[in-house]
Amino acid sequence: MSKENFIHKLFDTITPGYDCFNRIASMGLDQAWRRKTIDSLNLQPGMRVLDLAAGTGDLSVESVFKMLPLGIVVACDLSHPMLCSAAGKWARHPVAGWHLRYAQGRAEQLPFPENSFNAATIGFALRNVSDLGGTFRELRRVLRPGGRVALLEFGRPRNLLLRVGHWLWLTLVLPPLGLLTTGKLWPFLYLRRSILGFLAPEEVLRRLKEAGFSIAETRPMTGGTVRLYTAQRP
Ligand SMILES: C[S@@+](CC[C@H](N)C(=O)[O-])C[C@H]1O[C@@H](n2cnc3c(N)ncnc32)[C@H](O)[C@@H]1O
Repeated sequence: MSKENFIHKLFDTITPGYDCFNRIASMGLDQAWRRKTIDSLNLQPGMRVLDLAAGTGDLSVESVFKMLPLGIVVACDLSHPMLCSAAGKWARHPVAGWHLRYAQGRAEQLPFPENSFNAATIGFALRNVSDLGGTFRELRRVLRPGGRVALLEFGRPRNLLLRVGHWLWLTLVLPPLGLLTTGKLWPFLYLRRSILGFLAPEEVLRRLKEAGFSIAETRPMTGGTVRLYTAQRP
């Protein structure tokens, strides 16, 4: 099975328990990480933002709230169940639903013309795409000149003690928690493996620059267990 098919199946399978798992696994910190990600973009009312790999739309709505009273966020994802879950969840919100649009699509071949967006985000999906360089090139293509990207991804602490604690958390806590919240174990064994095996931050920055982005920077959050990458289309 290709990586794309595997990831597609994985997220289609865990959609119902996804938000619950996130809140518990991050001990409630995931929303603060998302807010910091959006703060880094300096969004203004009236902008058009792409939230790629949007999942259930939690990062998308943070952009909506930053741009009120105007602004459009396009939530794009590979998984139809994830997009349906986002649409169902945010349709009930008094404000967010008006500003959100949905598109099913692959990060490596975005279904948008050039220069479509003022800014773009990706939350927790850099590990999952099958071609990271191709994804960055697509982001650059659909962004307008001067457009910024903010990418949120799991990381690994550099401090030895934190690194050991993080490994224990990934190994002993996350898989059983995933099983409890979604009824599936294998997606959370993949989650652990993909976090431990992900690229070093310097390599992610190198690939952003290689794809044509400038001012590529990264900063750790929560002891380096999560990282924010930012860059700009020249
Ligand atoms: C861990 S979830 C993150 C969802 C959301 N960004 C968040 O912050 O909660 C990863 C999402 O990326 C999507 N995804 C994975 N690979 C993708 C690809 N190649 N193209 C588009 N979406 C993809 C999955 O379907 C899933 O909804």
